[in-house]
Amino acid sequence: MIKNVSVIGAGTMGNGIAHVFAQAGHSVVLIDVAAAQLETALKTIEKNLDRQLAKGTITGPQKEETLRNITMETDIKKGVAAAHLVVEAATEQELLKLEIFKQIDAAAPPDCILATNTSSISVTKIASVTGRPEQVIGMHFMNPVPVMKLVEVINGYATRADVSAAIIGLSEKLGKIPALANDYPGFVANRILMPMINEAIYSLYEGVAGVEAIDTIMKSGMAHPMGPLQLADFIGLDVCLSILNVLHQGLGNPKYAPCPLLANMVASGRKGVKSGEGFYIYTQGSGDLVVSEKFR
Ligand code: CAA
Repeated sequence: MIKNVSVIGAGTMGNGIAHVFAQAGHSVVLIDVAAAQLETALKTIEKNLDRQLAKGTITGPQKEETLRNITMETDIKKGVAAAHLVVEAATEQELLKLEIFKQIDAAAPPDCILATNTSSISVTKIASVTGRPEQVIGMHFMNPVPVMKLVEVINGYATRADVSAAIIGLSEKLGKIPALANDYPGFVANRILMPMINEAIYSLYEGVAGVEAIDTIMKSGMAHPMGPLQLADFIGLDVCLSILNVLHQGLGNPKYAPCPLLANMVASGRKGVKSGEGFYIYTQGSGDLVVSEKFR
């Protein structure tokens, strides 16, 4: 039975993943090399639990129990020593993930399942640096993790069927909706989402329409909660660029080539919400969406 879950990386995805496992009653160890990042993550989890409390979707005691279920650790080896499942949610860099998987493979119990929250890096490649590739799987949560229902479960080339079934069952117990994909570039979510975002950026680049018109058309016309340009800012323009590069290189089809405007924005440090500017400007504390001066 999967009771003890170790989550590696206390960024946006890691803290959301720790939140949902702890809320479902798991003992969670949240691991990050930076102690300050762990403190920030815990504050974020508390803030998001307070939102749920204010909406009446959880009670005060449930909030307290969720927080009690989370411990923090800066030492990866100690943090995974008693894990039944490790979910890696570190920065989306292949070499970093390969190094982390070598470390967790050496320190986690032999029957522990090793999952990665990667949005596009090959699960099969990650599995290949471990001594247990059949127990390595993709568990791709969506941002914001406490809100979004989907878990894209990705079978690596060697993933065992019972491991896949266990992760699907576990995702359901978290109140999520799992969907299974095989390990090809971008899996399903980003293979379909990123070309749409890229096409929205091309529409802007070629002067078909402005930022607000593109987002309004997709929001009001297709019932998307965010327009594609706002969503790109929310995901991170650097992340969008790197996923498009994985699709382009991995599938070898020019239709996935990232728009030059996206490459320029990332090169100039405009990465969306996290850098304060992308297609829109994000001023601290302001709820209004203001189009970047570059596109007015
Ligand atoms: N934790 C807990 N609850 C949260 C939350 C968080 N981090 N963020 C928002 N919420 C809750 C709010 O409390 C609110 O709850 P109610 O519906 O009960 O009132 C609800 O979510 C909506 O929040 P807001 O009213 O503040 O804002 P909103 O209506 O604009 O919704 C949003 C915000 C949920 C982010 C919505 O805009 C949305 O669904 N956007 C699209 C998100 C999306 O597409 N995510 C996938 C990105 S792709 C990805 O993650 C994968 C990848 O590999 C790139």
